[in-house]
Amino acid sequence: MTKKAMCPGSFDPITCGHIDIITRTARIFDEVIVTVFDNPNKDHFFPCADRIRMARRSLKSIPNVVVEKGEGLLVEYARKRGIGVVIKGLRAVSDFEYEFQMAQMNRAIANHVETLFMMTRPEHSYLSSSIVKELAELGADVSEMVPAEVMEAFRERAAKT
Ligand code: PNS
Repeated sequence: MTKKAMCPGSFDPITCGHIDIITRTARIFDEVIVTVFDNPNKDHFFPCADRIRMARRSLKSIPNVVVEKGEGLLVEYARKRGIGVVIKGLRAVSDFEYEFQMAQMNRAIANHVETLFMMTRPEHSYLSSSIVKELAELGADVSEMVPAEVMEAFRERAAKT
C-alpha cells in the first residue's frame, strides 16, 4: 500500500523551513502531497497560482512530492485522495496552540486522518512567511530564508512598485 502524507498550508510564500519539513516527510512516506490552500483568515500576499508555482519549482528535485491546489475541507480533500496522514511543522510553543486546535478540530469532524507534528530544525525555528515578507518588503536580504524562485518573485514585485 502506498503511504501518502499531506503537507498543507498557505505557503505565502514557501520558505526554507517548509522545504525542510517536506523533504524530511518525503524520506518517510512514499508520496507527499503539498496542498496549497487559501486561508480565509489571512490576506494573501501572493495569489494562489503564484504560491503553487513557487512551491512546484522549489520542490521539483524531490520525485515523490507533488504540489496541488487545496479546496474545501482539508479532511475531505485527504479522504478523496486516500491520504491518511497530515504533517505539520512545529517551530515553537507559540505554534502549538493554533496547530493543536486545528488537529483536534479535524479529529472531531473526521476520524480517518492522523495529524503528526515534525519539529523544525533549530536554524529554522525563527523563520516564518510573515516575517520574511516584511523583511523583503523593507529591502532586507532574505536569500538564505527562501528558495531562489521566491527571491525572484520578490524582485519582480519590487520592480513593479
Ligand atoms: O499555512 P497556514 O495558513 O497556517 O495553513 C492553514 C491551513 C491551510 C492548513 C488551514 O487553514 C486549513 O486546513 N484549511 C483548509 C480548510 C479547512 O479544513 N479548515 C478547517 C481547519 S480546522
